[in-house]
Amino acid sequence: MVNNQVIWEQLYQLGRQQNKYPYGDLPSYIFSLYGKGSDKSGLKVLEVGSGGGGNLWFFARESFQTFGLDFSPSAVENSRELLAKNQLPAEIIVGDFRQLPYADNFFDLVLDRNSLYCVTKADLLQSVTEIKRVLKPGGRFLSYMYSADSECIQYGKPQKIEENTYTDFKTRPFKGAGITHFVTKQELLEEIYRGFKVEYIRQTSNDFIYPKKYNDIIIFVTSGIKK
Ligand SMILES: C[S@@+](CC[C@H](N)C(=O)[O-])C[C@H]1O[C@@H](n2cnc3c(N)ncnc32)[C@H](O)[C@@H]1O
Repeated sequence: MVNNQVIWEQLYQLGRQQNKYPYGDLPSYIFSLYGKGSDKSGLKVLEVGSGGGGNLWFFARESFQTFGLDFSPSAVENSRELLAKNQLPAEIIVGDFRQLPYADNFFDLVLDRNSLYCVTKADLLQSVTEIKRVLKPGGRFLSYMYSADSECIQYGKPQKIEENTYTDFKTRPFKGAGITHFVTKQELLEEIYRGFKVEYIRQTSNDFIYPKKYNDIIIFVTSGIKK
């Protein structure tokens, strides 16, 4: 089986994936859900698979009590540096999101910005069970997950591990990325967000009109409230 932890640690050691800024549309979503410029210091947010820390940087600037977890020690070190350099408080730890080291009912918001896709389906469902456990009732789970309709699955010629889970992509964007799980809308509604009240599922993609390109990645942005 692919050792994803080694793959991700090596990527960060090579200085790749070092996101210093929040992911594209994330600030707009957070502003629409929690307001812009308002005091959010009463809200605890956790990012699972927090990587280079760009999203944590944004949450801390927006006055959330900010927590991050990633299984790559280099990513954790780099993101701690990023936050410290900007004098922003955050608790960032090395850990595995399949077993979260936090108390029950602790967080108001958990973000998965394209991190939970890095595991098999069974591990994804186990991770969501953990996310649900650490969320307060009424807390929100906001996720970015790759759609099974993404065209890169066809032209990337990956090795199939199980339904909608692949590895060994021959081309970008997933070349060298280890395990990659893609989801369907039905899976989101009936399995991943079971036990949540779904607020919305949005679909974003790079639908180029000119020049004509593959619609290579489609992302579902889903928000749900813990019942
Ligand atoms: C595509 S990166 C996204 C990073 C970050 N969320 C962002 O938006 O920039 C996926 C991240 O998930 C982390 N990751 C993958 N599997 C993990 C696991 N089982 N536990 C903790 N982190 C994991 C990787 O180390 C990597 O930092």
